[in-house]
Amino acid sequence: MNATVAVAVEAAAVSRQAPLSARALRAAAVSWFVVTALGQLTFAGYVAGFYGRTALAGRPELWNKVMPHGYVAGETFFNLVLGVHLAFAFVITVGGLMQLVPAIRRRLPALHRATGRVYLLAAALMAAGGLVMVWGRGAVGDLSQHVAISINAGLILSCATVAWRHARARRIDLHRRWALRLFLAVSGVWFFRVGLMLWIVVNQGPAGFDPKTFSGPFLTVLAFAAYAVLPLAVLEGYLRAQRSRVAWVPYAMASGIALLTLAMAMGVAAAAAILWLPRL
Ligand code: HEM
Repeated sequence: MNATVAVAVEAAAVSRQAPLSARALRAAAVSWFVVTALGQLTFAGYVAGFYGRTALAGRPELWNKVMPHGYVAGETFFNLVLGVHLAFAFVITVGGLMQLVPAIRRRLPALHRATGRVYLLAAALMAAGGLVMVWGRGAVGDLSQHVAISINAGLILSCATVAWRHARARRIDLHRRWALRLFLAVSGVWFFRVGLMLWIVVNQGPAGFDPKTFSGPFLTVLAFAAYAVLPLAVLEGYLRAQRSRVAWVPYAMASGIALLTLAMAMGVAAAAAILWLPRL
């Protein structure tokens, strides 16, 4: 038996010995990741299939079918910032999922380090480019949403810096925690779209906001929840539940994650059907 197989067998044996509450928590986290991976791959497919295809065909003006502040002929700087943003949207979405797959981290550590560097570069470019577009040119939504997504950009930059420093110092447990926070901050724009589509489907139309101005109380709450608060709060709960010695804590957290995963699966299906697949 070679070393890799021995480690895998040992890990499986340890996980079989883990208390039922820990296994329930792990199962909830794995199902959350599977739904997230499927939903984010669909989003990445849409970015490549719509923005990539139209860019390669030399028709970036078609981006304006989706974005009110899209391609503007003659505005070379902002068009470049937007083009880089869209290209790295694909890279960061696929790269982030790869970083979370345990088998890649364990068996291909050199690949994990290489994609990790690309991911950090992408995170910095997405956050900085996003800020330039929001405050330099204007973006869809009102001031509250612009503030919320700017906080998201700040979280991305801070988590990326801390995760990178822990990785360089080989503080692996701390690196893992900050990399997970970074992944959730980066996924904020995806959570926003999934949450919005779930809300629209549940309410059978826009509720709590004006679809023409794309503003209103629901969108303000959703923006702060998706970009800054909810995913990071759930992650903190998950990390604490992993270390808790009180048996009901992992069970409670596993149930919460399972419910959120169910809601997220409905949101992903709605976003795929309404936003992403029709534009391919
Ligand atoms: C880090 C992960 C991010 C991804 C994957 C991402 C992805 C995208 C995509 C795909 C679009 C095109 C619109 C669509 O088809 O849905 C877009 C547009 C845009 N993004 Fe991002 N983005 C990210 C982060 C950010 C951040 C942090 C900001 C702001 C600070 C931002 C600001 C913008 C702006 C201003 C637009 C132009 C659309 C508009 O008028 O609002 N993005 N982004």
